[in-house]
Amino acid sequence: MKVLVTGGAGFIGSHTCVELLNAGHEVVIVDNLSNSKEEAVDKIREITGKDLRFYRVDLLDRRELEDVFAQNPVGAVIHFAGYKAVGESVEKPLEYYWNNIAGTLILLETMRAAGCKKIVFSSSATVYGMDNPVPFKEGYPISATNPYGYTKVMIEQILQDLCHADPSWSAVLLRYFNPIGAHESGLIGESPNGIPNNLLPYIAQVADGVLPELKVYGDDYDTPDGTGVRDYIHVVDLAKGHLAALDYAVSYTGAEPFNLGTGHGTSVLEMVQAFEKTNNVRVPYKIVSRRAGDIAAAYADTSKAERVLHWHAEKGITEMCQDSWKFIQHSR
Ligand code: UD1
Repeated sequence: MKVLVTGGAGFIGSHTCVELLNAGHEVVIVDNLSNSKEEAVDKIREITGKDLRFYRVDLLDRRELEDVFAQNPVGAVIHFAGYKAVGESVEKPLEYYWNNIAGTLILLETMRAAGCKKIVFSSSATVYGMDNPVPFKEGYPISATNPYGYTKVMIEQILQDLCHADPSWSAVLLRYFNPIGAHESGLIGESPNGIPNNLLPYIAQVADGVLPELKVYGDDYDTPDGTGVRDYIHVVDLAKGHLAALDYAVSYTGAEPFNLGTGHGTSVLEMVQAFEKTNNVRVPYKIVSRRAGDIAAAYADTSKAERVLHWHAEKGITEMCQDSWKFIQHSR
């Protein structure tokens, strides 16, 4: 099938393109490169030995997007493109709502006009908000505490409403937990702009000597060692989850959410130790106060994805730490 991937040059997008090409799909990337580089597209070609189409197009540019659909008979869309920094979204709500919501609406209208009604959407475990007990289940009420999170909640709602109004649509809502790691080749991975917000890229830069020490945000949570617990998932496992979601979208209609996580929680200090041990490096840290908006623990109930998508994560923390570090060393 010809699959259009928005945000295909980004971290999760590029790994998903590799898996799509390896599985024999044709890939068309639409990316405005606002938080990625065209180099990633060449690396996808290098890893897979296969070609793909790349369009430097912004989803807000309706005419250019229509041209992409006119030139390519697209069977399904995987939609990653969007701004994703929580703190920045609080500073720039209009930019976040405009880019993420309007971009998605233009994409959906263009898909409808082209007769393509299958979409896999990059949602986030952030939609479980602050109040749900772990492990998070898809049936829980969803909410948000910042504009970034609200864009995910709103787009899920838009897709639910669209599938309700027109039952020939299919929308798979993938709620990612904490994607880390990189492709085993070391050629593609996560390259955040500036100082990283997320734990693993921060640890990697401390280990690399770029940043002096990790600040551990709180050791007084109600968790085994007091630090925050998250469900880290290898990005290649996550990418494979998109293939399972695509198969599902081809066979079923309606809007359906799925958790993509491992179901296991790892604390900040466990992650620091795993990274040090696996890669034989030092990660100095100090405990500081909690980060606003953080919760004690977040991990997935993975039973729905296992049962319905026939997918589960296979890689453990050691592989995640190893592959993240390999990518950092390759990109020096
Ligand atoms: C964060 C976002 C979430 C988003 C996800 C994308 C916040 C509050 N949440 O999730 O909405 O969907 O990224 O990947 O930003 N930590 C430290 N020191 C650091 C960085 C993180 O101790 O320098 C701790 C955090 O307190 C947390 C854990 O590490 O316990 C993971 O943090 P992070 O990687 O930022 O992910 P989330 O907070 O789960």
